[in-house]
Amino acid sequence: MKIFSRAYASTANFGPGFDVYAMALDAFNDVIAVEPDAKYIKISGPYADGLSADYVARYINYMVGCFRNYFRLDEVEVGVEIFKGIPVSVGLGSSAAASVAFISSLASAYGVDASIRDIQLLASIGEEYVAGARHIDNVTASLVGGFVVSCLEVESIVISPPPWLSILLLIPSGGDYVFYGKTKYARSILSDCYSISDCVYNIRRASYLIAGLLRGDPKLIRFGLSDKLVEPYRYKLIPFPKEVLEKLRSVDGVLGMFISGAGPTVSVVVDDRLEGVDVDIMEILDRNSVDCKVVYSGVGGGVYTWRE
Ligand code: HSE
Repeated sequence: MKIFSRAYASTANFGPGFDVYAMALDAFNDVIAVEPDAKYIKISGPYADGLSADYVARYINYMVGCFRNYFRLDEVEVGVEIFKGIPVSVGLGSSAAASVAFISSLASAYGVDASIRDIQLLASIGEEYVAGARHIDNVTASLVGGFVVSCLEVESIVISPPPWLSILLLIPSGGDYVFYGKTKYARSILSDCYSISDCVYNIRRASYLIAGLLRGDPKLIRFGLSDKLVEPYRYKLIPFPKEVLEKLRSVDGVLGMFISGAGPTVSVVVDDRLEGVDVDIMEILDRNSVDCKVVYSGVGGGVYTWRE
């Protein structure tokens, strides 16, 4: 018998909410199956090429050890099948979704009653292994779905965005912008000292963004989608010229955009009641010879586990 879990990709930070906000994306998902008392690793799926087999083996070994210690189990030995349906290293929470799916399958296989916080904690240890820091934004979105305000001290908050809100993901095709260790690097270039006015700017934007999502008010969402603490340092990690982003921003139906997690994907937040937004965006990208894939995504749900 095998236990399968499917977890969606996610887009983190969402403008002003560094390490706190994220939204699950139904455009991509990973499925991870475990078989107790077996020993193999199989990797398949459209983005399997983005994974190194050695690295995956080390990661699985490490996470199995963390899982065993955390739940005080005697022995955990599993065969693992990974269906990699999330592009790797492009800022779509691929490692977080994989960790959430893997831990959920392990928990079900070993009959442990893992709470949301247990999985957040364990998966954040996985994020530290991969990205060098224990952030839980992507992890929480893949775990519970929707738009999340993530936290370990108290429960995370899940918000259902307005039904007309969608994301157009601008995913660069590779090259210098997609590299191993990117998240660690993207975190290392941030400042550790910010002016009070920039902090106030972000607090204000973050507050209005949540109000806009709750009220379903595009004006407030548009105002809230801006950041002064992280993105100014990370623009060099994305291949989209600022003038092109400005042109995209002026398209009818575009509410704003942000670097998805550590990039290089840019998430364009759109009001899909206005038809043709995607066509206008693709035209601007084409005219400016920007090489990227444009993928439409709605909001993803939480992790789903089943047996076969
Ligand atoms: N909040 C994280 C960051 C997400 O921006 O570094 C990356 O996975």
